[in-house]
Amino acid sequence: MKAIKAVKGTKDILPWEIPLWHQIETLCKELFASAGYQEIRTPVFEKTELFARGIGEFSDIVSKEMYTFQDMGGEWLTLRPEFTASVIRSYIQHHYYQRASLHKLWYFGPLFRQERPQAGRLRQFHQFGIELIGSEYPEADAEIITLACDFYKKIGLKDWELHINSIGNTKDRLNYIEVLKKSLTPYVDDLCPTCQDRFDKNILRLFDCKNELCQQILDTHAPKIIDYLSEKDKAHFEEVCEYLDLQNVPYQINSKLVRGLDYYTRTTFEIKSNHLGAQDALCGGGRYDNLVEELGGPSTPSIGFAAGVERLIMALEAEEKASVQLSPPDLYIAPIDNQAYKGIVKYCTHLRNQGFIIETDLLRRSVKAMMREANRKQARFVTVIGSEELNSGTLTLKHLETGQEYPVNWDNLGEFLEKTILPF
Ligand code: HAM
Repeated sequence: MKAIKAVKGTKDILPWEIPLWHQIETLCKELFASAGYQEIRTPVFEKTELFARGIGEFSDIVSKEMYTFQDMGGEWLTLRPEFTASVIRSYIQHHYYQRASLHKLWYFGPLFRQERPQAGRLRQFHQFGIELIGSEYPEADAEIITLACDFYKKIGLKDWELHINSIGNTKDRLNYIEVLKKSLTPYVDDLCPTCQDRFDKNILRLFDCKNELCQQILDTHAPKIIDYLSEKDKAHFEEVCEYLDLQNVPYQINSKLVRGLDYYTRTTFEIKSNHLGAQDALCGGGRYDNLVEELGGPSTPSIGFAAGVERLIMALEAEEKASVQLSPPDLYIAPIDNQAYKGIVKYCTHLRNQGFIIETDLLRRSVKAMMREANRKQARFVTVIGSEELNSGTLTLKHLETGQEYPVNWDNLGEFLEKTILPF
């Protein structure tokens, strides 16, 4: 019978890949907790309207990438394509603002976008990220951006760059869009078909185009959004940069960084890897000062970022930093027969309850094959158990690296492992 494969654009996270995923998750927990962020978990699907209103009807995500379906009651639902709208929905629904004026949240989980799969672009992928809800000040922007950079530093990634920009408030942006349209009108026919389509619907998306000619036209003829900011937003952006300078965080101001979701206001940023080709954004984020209000909550300035886990892993692999130490067994117990297996099970459970990693054979293998398996698993100690070891109350532990043997009483096994494992 023909075997069934995973759906295009989705991936198994294989058992031998899991240690790296655990390392990433642990770093999220530790780093974000160290700055006072609390974890939030939201449902995998939401009402379609949430994303349509939150991310923007004409954004690529909403207009063509969402997994949307009608449930049995006829309600339109969507598998979440991002976290921010869900987090803000939760913030409003549960009146977080009545508990405190500032909320710091982090998350980790799967997302779904019906994009054309390619290296670094999946249909089910994972993000971790943080949202800082309630502060309008540049200190908040600097904290978010610095935490994103700290994550990549701590995980050991070297070859990346921080790009930042400000796209101002809605009024200034509308004004900029008018100017941009006027400046580019003479060149519309030279743009690629996608950009021609975007010209009327969502002209800022032109900046995301990978077509060289489109980029040349923008470089030569597009005005810079930063020159159209209000005095207040310009001052805000300058202060964000000042905070980054104070912390020696290197950055590039990138006037084309307008981001693909419509909720952004003022600061936008991305961290790009130099190893990922076309899909080079490791993470992206920015301010979204109007989103809480647009989704029915009180006016609440906010900022956050989200990072792609699969892209991070690709970048770590490219920099050869993806190897993670597996936890080898502290002791591999090799029972010579089924009778011996019956004698050791209670010790296995007891030692596992004491926190040791204990493995034993479940395939009724020969002693030679069990020793091979203990070596393959890089167990610290191995012991072969037969009736003699069970009846006498003494067993012999062999340290696999040095070959040294240690006679130990069953009753003292935990104590011995505790004392002996550390010096090795
Ligand atoms: P985003 O730029 O759409 O932003 O996604 C953030 C990151 O998720 C990207 O930089 C990339 O690493 C990863 N990513 C996105 N799409 C895919 C895909 N199809 N396959 C693999 N990785 C992908 C957001 O999602 C915003 N919610 C970020 C944010 C949080 N802004 C404010 N707060």
